[in-house]
Amino acid sequence: MHVIVCGTAHEVAVRAADLIAARVRRGPVTLGLATGGTPQGTYRELIRRHREDGLSFARTTSFTLDEYVGLAPSHDQSYRATILRDFVDHVDLPLSSLHTPRGDAPDPADEARRYEESLARAGGVDLQILGIGTNGHIGFNEPASSLASPTTVRALTRQTRTDNARFFGHEPVPRLCITQGLGTISKAREILLLAVGGGKARAVRNMVEGPVSARCPASVLQFHARTTVLLDPGAAAELEYLEDYREAARLLHERG
Ligand code: PGA
Repeated sequence: MHVIVCGTAHEVAVRAADLIAARVRRGPVTLGLATGGTPQGTYRELIRRHREDGLSFARTTSFTLDEYVGLAPSHDQSYRATILRDFVDHVDLPLSSLHTPRGDAPDPADEARRYEESLARAGGVDLQILGIGTNGHIGFNEPASSLASPTTVRALTRQTRTDNARFFGHEPVPRLCITQGLGTISKAREILLLAVGGGKARAVRNMVEGPVSARCPASVLQFHARTTVLLDPGAAAELEYLEDYREAARLLHERG
């Protein structure tokens, strides 16, 4: 993993936007889009570049990571509504190129299979954006998820439902989801994982320095050849080899 520790959460967003924009400018690309609080700053920065610098997503295809079972796309907390609100509605990414699992599909297991197949048919994800849960999940792959699974129906842990209650007000957080599996995510050609704040510090340490284990699902990324991890100082705070990562990033940066 290429670990980069930024000075602030804003810098994480700008560095992430730099990497995504460079890939988008190179030509047609399939982006894997994450929802949640962490990438919001990155999406704001990409929207700004679209408006002010003409960054175009017209040749971008996108697949989201996951969706709550039981929520229609029109529900304001569905991840389809969230990614539209946070990003897609503000840029020129064609709606026909935005793929999300349907949370209100009559047979969620069947929908999970259909989603996996449509992702494969599109040629897979070129650049996957990820956040990380406080329990080390990526997508909604909670601890003890198979490290090789395809898109599948999963139960959310109490920890995740507590973490996400802030988005739901008085409504209960759904208990089931459809999520790209760890096997699906691992097939992305490049991965960009963002984490900010001390609440993520333990999960980040387990992902980067812990054993590869379903106890911390994100640790499967240790097997991925092209993963960049962008952290703010809070999220990096528990890394044992923090100074080594800073020095490596400095040396690699100097080499261009
Ligand atoms: P957050 O969630 O960005 O809202 O902290 C990250 C995640 O659960 O993957």
